[in-house]
Amino acid sequence: MCGIIACVGRGDDTLDTLVHGLSKLDYRGYDSAGVALTGSGDDTVEVVKRQGQLDALRRVLETARADGAEPRGTVGMAHTRWSTHGAPSDANAHPHTDCTGRVAVVHNGIIENYQALRDELAANGHEFRSETDTEVIPHLIEELFDGPEYDPADPEPAIREAVARLEGSFAVVVSVAGVETLFGARQDNPLVLGTSPRDAGSAGGERSEPRAGATYLASDVPAFRAFTDRVVYLENGEFARIDAEGWTVTGTDGEVVQTSVETVDWDPEDTGKSGYDHFMLKEIHEQPRALRQCLQGRVDEMGGRVTLDVDVDPERVQFVACGTSYHAALYGAELFRQAGVPAQAFLASEYATSPPPVDDALVIGVTQSGETADTLSALREARSRGARTLACTNTVGSTAARECDDVLYIRSGPEIGVAATKTFAAQQTALNALALSVAQERRRAGDVRDSLSALRELPGDVQAVLDESNAEALAEEFVGAPSYFFIGRGVHFPVALEGALKLKEISYGHAEGFASGELKHGPLALVTDETPVFAVVTGDGPLATKTIGNVKEVESRDAPVVAVTDGRSKVERYADHVLEIPEAPPRTAAVLANVQLQLVAYHVADRLGRPIDKPRNLAKSVTVE
Ligand code: G6P
Repeated sequence: MCGIIACVGRGDDTLDTLVHGLSKLDYRGYDSAGVALTGSGDDTVEVVKRQGQLDALRRVLETARADGAEPRGTVGMAHTRWSTHGAPSDANAHPHTDCTGRVAVVHNGIIENYQALRDELAANGHEFRSETDTEVIPHLIEELFDGPEYDPADPEPAIREAVARLEGSFAVVVSVAGVETLFGARQDNPLVLGTSPRDAGSAGGERSEPRAGATYLASDVPAFRAFTDRVVYLENGEFARIDAEGWTVTGTDGEVVQTSVETVDWDPEDTGKSGYDHFMLKEIHEQPRALRQCLQGRVDEMGGRVTLDVDVDPERVQFVACGTSYHAALYGAELFRQAGVPAQAFLASEYATSPPPVDDALVIGVTQSGETADTLSALREARSRGARTLACTNTVGSTAARECDDVLYIRSGPEIGVAATKTFAAQQTALNALALSVAQERRRAGDVRDSLSALRELPGDVQAVLDESNAEALAEEFVGAPSYFFIGRGVHFPVALEGALKLKEISYGHAEGFASGELKHGPLALVTDETPVFAVVTGDGPLATKTIGNVKEVESRDAPVVAVTDGRSKVERYADHVLEIPEAPPRTAAVLANVQLQLVAYHVADRLGRPIDKPRNLAKSVTVE
């Protein structure tokens, strides 16, 4: 995890640019934050870093500014941390420096051979001040600087050599005191280059025009989106050099790489809170728009067809995913089975260690960020065994998008809150369309026609749920319950899992989701008159009837029952409360029911005063296995 932002060419604005960038990246981790700046003639890189959220660093910088002692420089980099090696502390915060303070490094990922490097460097007299794996990097560079062939005018060869010795996953940016150039490298962790509009013609790794404006390196585009929309997505093994003259990208062999500058099509405002108290609430309310974007140009109701930019008709499907995306994968697998395609969903971390035979399987990685290490690992495993892979992701240019054979973008717009909301709804919707496109290939036309109008109505139906939800009042009633249970069948089973995950991750309450039929096989022992049970029951078919049976089981144990329902099954007769959704077929009802449960989780957590957008110990993008 961790977030990096670095820039050259913003003059006096460098420090503010970095702090702004960090504020856009703290979804990647928020244990500590730090900045490092340097400028022409400096002997050391000036570093300020603090344990805690970005505000702790901001306060220190404000005090320094008031005293006229703020760090200055035209070359800067900054980091927000999610701890892997060493507890959150000032010492373990990035940037890390060498013994002399000449070299500063920010890093995202894990250096797997750090202990061996550290032992070697310590034996050569290097003194380490942190418990991190990262700190070996500046010391290693310092060691190479001391070598006979080092030319102080050009630190690049030493930095390249140091990077070549690193094993594991990393995105690193290196700054050297007095050198008005930044160096970046990536291996299995994201690093993007932002270039000013006048650089537009410099694609192909050519040097851009002199003084083309500022250039940026970051873990993710929102860090510099306020300043430019022009982006180069760096690939594994690439090395970037940015300075006031522009930028170059080279491969491991030092040869210039033909890169392309892409334009991102979302607005910087998309990454602000727009008046909502939390990003999560804003993103819940953005779902109608997110789903419209997801469906745009893909559903032709008149022609009775789904048109996607991916063309698949697999013999079988294996989904790999983590967290909320795993729940979307379970949902997708159910829809593929309904389309007549054998499909299974795997937790990505389990798939990679014990992969099932792929045969003729299409392996679909569901990952909103496209950077989740466990999911990337599973996809690589599948590819190495000959499977075709497809990334279902929100992030254009992400590692998953680039490494897979095909990509299905969910197009929900950037999501900042750690708890996934609109990306889950968009994953459900995109997978729904994908499964329909396969049903269409298999001439199960009835399936497609019935579902197309429901898909078209989905954004409006989500809006209706948002406008009329009584989830806030209900949350008030159940705040502080010892446990919360969620049940559902078929496509509503993943919704039950997701409802519970959302509640536990942001409210810290104990919550569990179960397939409705499983409740009686053990979990029922935990059900009491203090434990609300949320039952997702839609339609009036056999699945609804069976779930109503399970509702009666908990009702007779005096548990408060909340039915999430369109009212057709009359489940409300056995429920204490109802969260209503518009009538819709099960596959879209699953999206609508989930919106109600998102709101319950949000309001319970809000009532408890939890840090909703940054729950403790969690990060949005988990780039370690
Ligand atoms: C983290 C986040 C979850 C997310 C999961 C998978 O654990 O906290 O909200 O569902 O990663 O992320 P992905 O980007 O692969 O969808």
